[in-house]
Amino acid sequence: MQTVDLILKSLYISLMPRSVKTADFLIIGGGVAGLRAAIEVAPKGSVVVLTKDKPAESSTGYAQGGIAVALSDEDEVGIHHRDTIKAGNGLCKEEAVKVLVEEGPAVILELISWGAEFDREGSRLAFTREAAHSRRRILHAHGDSTGKELERVLIKKVRTFPSVSRYDFAFTTDLIIEDNRCVGAVVLKDKEVIPIYAKAVILATGGAGQLYSRTTNPLIATGDGIAIAYRAGAVLDDMEFIQFHPTTLYSPSAPQFLLSEAMRGEGAILKNIHGKRFMPQYHEMAELAPRDIVTRAIISEMVKTKAKHVYLDLTHLDKDFVKRRFPGIYSTCLLFDIDITEDLIPVCPAAHYIMGGVKSGLNGETNINGLFAAGEAACTGVHGANRLASNSLLEGMVYGARAGKAASELRVEPAPLRGARAGSSELRVPKSLKIPKFKIQNSKIDIEKIRSSLRRLMWNKVGIIRCKESLTTAKEKLREWDSILKAGFTSRAELELKNMLTTANLIVESALLREGSIGAHYRSDFKEKGENWQRHALCQKGRAVEWSNA
Ligand code: FAD
Ligand code: SIN
Repeated sequence: MQTVDLILKSLYISLMPRSVKTADFLIIGGGVAGLRAAIEVAPKGSVVVLTKDKPAESSTGYAQGGIAVALSDEDEVGIHHRDTIKAGNGLCKEEAVKVLVEEGPAVILELISWGAEFDREGSRLAFTREAAHSRRRILHAHGDSTGKELERVLIKKVRTFPSVSRYDFAFTTDLIIEDNRCVGAVVLKDKEVIPIYAKAVILATGGAGQLYSRTTNPLIATGDGIAIAYRAGAVLDDMEFIQFHPTTLYSPSAPQFLLSEAMRGEGAILKNIHGKRFMPQYHEMAELAPRDIVTRAIISEMVKTKAKHVYLDLTHLDKDFVKRRFPGIYSTCLLFDIDITEDLIPVCPAAHYIMGGVKSGLNGETNINGLFAAGEAACTGVHGANRLASNSLLEGMVYGARAGKAASELRVEPAPLRGARAGSSELRVPKSLKIPKFKIQNSKIDIEKIRSSLRRLMWNKVGIIRCKESLTTAKEKLREWDSILKAGFTSRAELELKNMLTTANLIVESALLREGSIGAHYRSDFKEKGENWQRHALCQKGRAVEWSNA
């Protein structure tokens, strides 16, 4: 027993903070939103950008279809505005959409001036079409690798600022809040707990697709930022709205690989397993109907035909065009013996994007002073109940820049560095500093098992079609895991599970509150919009989920 105590003691000590770091600006997340924010604040002070994994491991890096922007001759910002609002089913915040579409062209032209190489037809930018867009307005790069190109250019630009430091594999556990001001965050890196103090913190941690057993999202997307902000007292909005992408590769031997909506934009059609095209029966825009409608139509066909998938068909398109336009998708599918120019591709929907998140204003501001949010972790209200395709990279660019600008304009005293040596960037821990305690006590938790059960639970009970019964079952199951939320944590895996459980709870509670169907939130027991349809489900720690009008 004594030996065990000694081991525990030494492990505990190794998790205690040895140093405090400081920066003017702390940016949590290195996807499009975090990097764009970093570029904005970099000329104004020292910046730390945190990523919990490799620098480019983010949803941004996997983005395929492109980035929507009203730059083509046939387009106007007003039409982009209208399409966004229409897809969002009346729940978009119009002012936020206006900012998105009006500032979009300038941020994209600036990105091009930094070296972004979007595909061209001759010397002119090439625009493709995606669902619910009434114009061809999606810029893309290397055919279907738009996200990689964005990451490449943004990382290159960030590197030009000596004021920016990057900490990779640095898992943020919690925000540090003093008197409703966010003054930093606590980071777990190499088993060391490091508090990082800053004048302003920008949360850009991305989405939560990993909560679902079928998802397009990378492993990092566990809803950390949403859960962290909730624990800190931030207000969250619209958590019930999860967007399911209609077409991901369905094959037992293949990963859940995304098959871009741009394929349908270029003429691909959906067929059921009997080879019958079905989308024209569901919507006048057929394969290019809003994403939630296509997703539910696919589910309906899968049920009718008792199949686990439908097909995406490009075989009628010119083979060379398909290979040239979708080189990444073509070569990935070939790895699984599917030649997309000749074979029907088995596809099925998967969780893709969370419309809800940390409630933030036009400058990324939240209800906590000094805390800003941008990108998928934020809820600016631009997406409403259903995000218009390819609007999220644009949102990351526009609102990342805005959050950065607002953070850089904050006039506050430097972060409280009690006991700090002046001018030092790395300081001994002042005795008065309060650091969350990490305890060695979780060996009994089977993290992988619970994570997997949670993901299946969310897919089966809180998925594309929900109802009171399924949501209540999920709620009860989540309650069984409640004790995990109260336990101490020692590893990234445990912390991620805790965040996933918190985020799942918020989705379930918000989905229960919304007794109606709108956009991506579909309740089989309330198929109409419901009387509260124009309101937003608001979550804040210590309060039951409730309606808000703003
Ligand atoms: P991300 O790019 O996901 O970055 C999150 C960052 O936060 C990462 O650096 C991560 O390490 C860090 N992080 C997370 N948690 C922590 C933590 N606890 N501590 C420290 N760091 C943390 N949108 C479009 O507009 N067009 C598209 O074509 C498109 N295609 C897509 C294809 C796929 C396969 C996927 C998954 C998404 C696609 N999307 C697309 C959606 C879009 O890519 C994302 O919504 C967007 O990139 C999110 O950017 P972000 O900066 O908010 O987050
Ligand atoms: C896709 O390429 O289909 C994804 C686009 C998006 O999520 O906006």
